[in-house]
Parts: sequence; structure tokens; C-alpha cells
Amino acid sequence: MKKNKRDSRENSPLDRRDFIKTGAAAAAVGSLAIDRAAFAQSSETVKVALIGCGGRGSGAANQALSTNGDVKLVAMADAFKDRMDSSQKGLQRAHGLKVDVKDENKFIGFDAYKKAIELADMVILATPPGFRPVHFAEAIKQGKHVFMEKPVAVDGKGVRQVLAAAKEAKKKNLKVGVGLQRHHQLGYQEIVKRIHDGAIGDIVSARSYWNGGGVWVREREKFEKSAGRKLTEMEYQMRNWYYFVWLCGDHITEQHIHNLDVINWIKGTHPTSCQGLGGREVRKGIDHGEIYDHHAVEYKYDDGSYMFSQCRHIRGCWNSVSEHVQGTKGRGTVSGPHMLTDNNGETIWRFGGGGKNPYQQEHDDLFDAIRNNKPFNEAEYGAYSSLTSVMGRMATYSGRMITAEDALNSDENTMPEILGWEAAPPTLPDENGRYSIAIPGKTRFGVEKV
Ligand SMILES: NC(=O)c1ccc[n+]([C@@H]2O[C@H](COP(=O)([O-])OP(=O)(O)OC[C@H]3O[C@@H](n4cnc5c(N)ncnc54)[C@H](O)[C@@H]3O)[C@@H](O)[C@H]2O)c1
Repeated sequence: MKKNKRDSRENSPLDRRDFIKTGAAAAAVGSLAIDRAAFAQSSETVKVALIGCGGRGSGAANQALSTNGDVKLVAMADAFKDRMDSSQKGLQRAHGLKVDVKDENKFIGFDAYKKAIELADMVILATPPGFRPVHFAEAIKQGKHVFMEKPVAVDGKGVRQVLAAAKEAKKKNLKVGVGLQRHHQLGYQEIVKRIHDGAIGDIVSARSYWNGGGVWVREREKFEKSAGRKLTEMEYQMRNWYYFVWLCGDHITEQHIHNLDVINWIKGTHPTSCQGLGGREVRKGIDHGEIYDHHAVEYKYDDGSYMFSQCRHIRGCWNSVSEHVQGTKGRGTVSGPHMLTDNNGETIWRFGGGGKNPYQQEHDDLFDAIRNNKPFNEAEYGAYSSLTSVMGRMATYSGRMITAEDALNSDENTMPEILGWEAAPPTLPDENGRYSIAIPGKTRFGVEKV
């Protein structure tokens, strides 16, 4: 098959002659970026920096270090030293000398990311998602390949920043992976391919769920006891980040994004409007911050089809983490067992098994792209699926209809003006240690229609 001009350019490794030939373009992009693109020879050591050394960041570093070829972890950054030290120990146990992080290349605090990024070819961004847009923009500015965890933003401003940096990454030929690992899971790949090929006709509706018991709580009292002093409010929120919108985006954004993203993948686009309801029924403890414990959102796509979405963090209820679609000719259980039936319930196709752990596969694919200069940029769909989750939250918090455009262009900016341990986070507790909670019908984002 004849390749079009764009494909052939994307697939051909840039060499020194290309660099010289494309002088004007190179000047626009910056020589560092061209070096990055040309760097990708398979035998070279890929130097990795880990930003955010918690559970997932350590997992992602483990996967990066488990890819084929020479890879080294050379720098680490975290807000807290204890998190970084335990991550380093665990990675050293698993990977020995591949973890080559000298003390002077370990950075602590809010600005730590910049210094760690400088030392690497490829960076893993795995802090709480509120920081992602700024960290991603910096990595691209410095001309580095990126693996960033989902969600990639928690508000419209963040999504705009990620979309802008994604464009820049393309121009600089930088590879970007996003931790929506279902895209690298064989069962999902196989079923989505068949749906796209028309096996069950046009998709007219979809359902997506992340209904479960909830996640960890990091209690203020325990941290204060072990520190032997009061925490500043910033320290507390940074430790217990899940429960604050500026850091987490609420669980519809932090977790349910996976399921919303699968339906967006199938539809090949994101919803244009939504409305929904939500609240907190059981999440009432002193360490439960400001987020809801359930959201139910009806999303509408431009072609008139709908996605019905639920996410819940309440124990003792019906649980499901899954995605389903209804087509004009049949139905799909997109999540496991990954199967298609006709409208009478007769099986058309069922996934036969196989494939690697998707967390490993996504790194294998990204490193293959880096080493062999293959096109790889997942930032845009990561940004739009993050937007889908953000507009869902805006709809449940306000009780109003929200369009994707409004959510994207919203002036909601959840980030604090100043980042520092003594600085004030955007939400503060009252005298009883309680935070104000969004109230549908009263909470407004200034953009929504009734
Ligand atoms: N793809 C998946 O299936 C999956 C699974 C789990 C988590 N995640 C995502 O990974 C990210 C991290 O989650 P986690 O479970 O590892 O949380 P975690 O709390 O275990 O780790 C976060 C780490 O980031 C550090 N940190 C916070 N702010 C920082 C900053 N400004 N600069 C540097 N370090 C900072 C924290 O101190 C902590 O060590 C989240 O976005 C989450 O949604 C994805």
C-alpha cells in the first residue's frame, strides 16, 4: 500500500542529514527535540526519571525497567522523602543496578519535577493528577518522551494545557503514553476492532460503570501522631489527596475515566453534552474531604447516541467495573469476557484469551516507539477522556446540563495560586474540620444550561 506523505515522514528515523536539511523546521522546533527524535537507536540506554514515587509511579517505573533493551532509572522526584525512599528501595530490590539514582539526583518538593526531568530521556509522571498538565508541559518543553498516568487533568484549564503540549510534542516528535492501559490490552483491542469493523452495526447506546467499595483514606490524626506535630493544611491535603478536587478531580475523574474512555474509543470521539446527579451518602468522615461518593451521568454524543455512566464508592452495593454497548445489529460486553452477541443473544464472537499484562504492554509499546521512532502520542485522547470525566463532575455538582465546549473553556481553575507547605490550598476546612460540599441546584460553574 502506498503511504501518504505524512505516514512516511512519521515512520522514518531522523538522521543527521535530515536535521541539516530541515534547517528552518529544526530551528522552530529546537535542536534538543531533534536530538530526542534521533536518539531512538535501539541499543542506547534510555534514561528514565520518575516524578511521583507512589504506588502507580513505582509500578510504572518497574514496567519501564522491564522493557527490552538498556534502561536506567536515573532521577526521582516526590513531594515527600519517605515516599521516594520506599519506592527506591522496592525498585532496587527488583532491578538492582538498573536503579542508578544518586543522592544528588533525588529531588523533594513542589519544584522537584523540573530538576528530575532535566536528567532524563523519558519521564514518568505519576503524581496526583492535578499536577499533570504543568508537569507534562515542562517535560515537553524540555524535549523529553513521556509516560503519564491518567487522568491527565482535573479541570478545563488543565485539559487545554495538555492539548497544547500534545501538539508541541507532535511537532518535536516526542512519544507520549497515557496510562489508559485498556488500549494496550488484547481483549479490548480485539473487540474494539470488530465493533469498528461493523460486527454489531452502529452504536446507539452504551453503559459504563465503576461501582465499587472505594479507596484508601490517609488520616490526618495518624500522620500528625507519627510526625509529632500538627500538619499544615497543605501537607494534609497532599497526603490525603484523593479527597480534594484540585488534586484528584473526584473519583469520576480519577477512576471512572477508564470506562468513559473505552466508550469514547469505540465512538471515536467524546460526548458533547451531559447531565447527571450525584452526592455523598456514606462519605461523611472527618478525612473524607469534599468529594462525592456516587455520580450517575447521561452523556450525549454528537450523533445522538448516549452513554449512561455510573460510579460509586459505597460498600455493600452492586459492584461492576465494566463497559457495554448496544448496536443496531447486536450487543457488546466490551470488558471481560469481551464478547459480541446478535440482538437475539446468540454469540457472534468471544475473546479467546491471551495478551500480556496491559500495564507492561503499554510500556513495551511506548519504548518500542521511542527506540524505533514510531508515531506514538496518546495525549490527545487522554485529554478528551479527562474532559469527559470533568464535564460529568461539573454536571453532578451543579445539577445542570454541561457541554464539552463549556467545560473545556471554563475558567474553573482548581490549582492554588501558590504551591508551598505553608500556602493555602483552594479549599479550607471550617472550625470543625469540615469542607464545603457541592450542592446540585446551588453550585455553579458559570457556564451551564438548566
Ligand atoms: N492506570 C491505572 O490503572 C492507575 C492505577 C492507580 C493509579 N493511577 C494513577 O496514578 C496516579 C498516582 O496514583 P497513586 O495511586 O500512585 O498515588 P500515590 O499517592 O500512591 O502516589 C502519588 C505520589 O506522588 C507524590 N506527589 C504528590 N504531589 C507531587 C508533586 N507535586 N511533585 C512530585 N511528587 C508528588 C506523592 O507524595 C506520592 O508519592 C494518579 O493519577 C492515579 O489516578 C493509575
